[in-house]
Amino acid sequence: MSEVKGEYNNRIERYNLTAIALHWVMALLIITLLALGYYMVDIPKGVPNRADYFNLHKSLGVLATFLIFLRAGWRWTHPAPKLPSNVPGWTVSAAWWSHLLLYVCMVLQPLTGYLSSSFNKYGVKFFGIELPKWGWEDAALRDLFMKFHHLIAALLVALILVHILAALKHLLVDRDGIFQRMLLGKNESTKTT
Ligand code: HEM
Ligand code: HEM
Repeated sequence: MSEVKGEYNNRIERYNLTAIALHWVMALLIITLLALGYYMVDIPKGVPNRADYFNLHKSLGVLATFLIFLRAGWRWTHPAPKLPSNVPGWTVSAAWWSHLLLYVCMVLQPLTGYLSSSFNKYGVKFFGIELPKWGWEDAALRDLFMKFHHLIAALLVALILVHILAALKHLLVDRDGIFQRMLLGKNESTKTT
């Protein structure tokens, strides 16, 4: 891990353990869901275990829904730690807007998936447990919600790529300790939120 440049090292406010744990568990889950989603839609109809992939995607997607509401609730009651004053204003706004968009997509993506699945005959099972259907069989509504699901998936991919590049820039180029705010580390004695 690269060292944090000089004087800001001890003054950086960090995310706390709950926020860090939720961030990394959800990062893994959402990247898995994106990969699984794009993989499974290419499996030709008639392949015997095709439905297993869809059911796994739906189950993990429902799990992600619980976690995102937990996370959004936590975030609502625990504001993000302030960025150090040397970070340029445009970077602060870019981070604020991109994080907000990530939250919006994280809420809308499982909702559109669930709604679309509610308007087809298969419904949603959570690791085998049948969940309530919010609709009836209706191909037009199913396709409409699925269109949104596909669109938001593409937006999420773009946002996550920019997010990862920005995080890596902080870690490797700026070396300003911003990346470490989302890690447990040496600075744990500094202020957390
Ligand atoms: C390997 C991939 C990832 C890396 C390296 C990464 C890194 C980071 C870092 C360093 C921060 C803290 C920024 C700061 O100090 O202000 C952060 C915040 C955040 N990340 Fe990630 N992240 C990754 C994946 C994701 C994914 C997949 C998502 C969601 C789709 C995500 C959503 C967020 C959000 C919403 C915040 C803001 C947290 C808040 O203020 O509540 N990240 N990420
Ligand atoms: C954060 C959560 C989720 C992510 C990131 C995600 C991502 C994706 C992606 C990338 C695809 C492929 C899109 C494409 O081909 O353009 C997909 C398809 C699909 N997703 Fe999700 N998904 C999530 C949650 C859910 C949930 C909760 C459900 C239902 C309960 C669901 C049901 C589906 C279905 C049925 C398809 C297949 C659509 C088709 O046949 O074209 N997804 N998802």
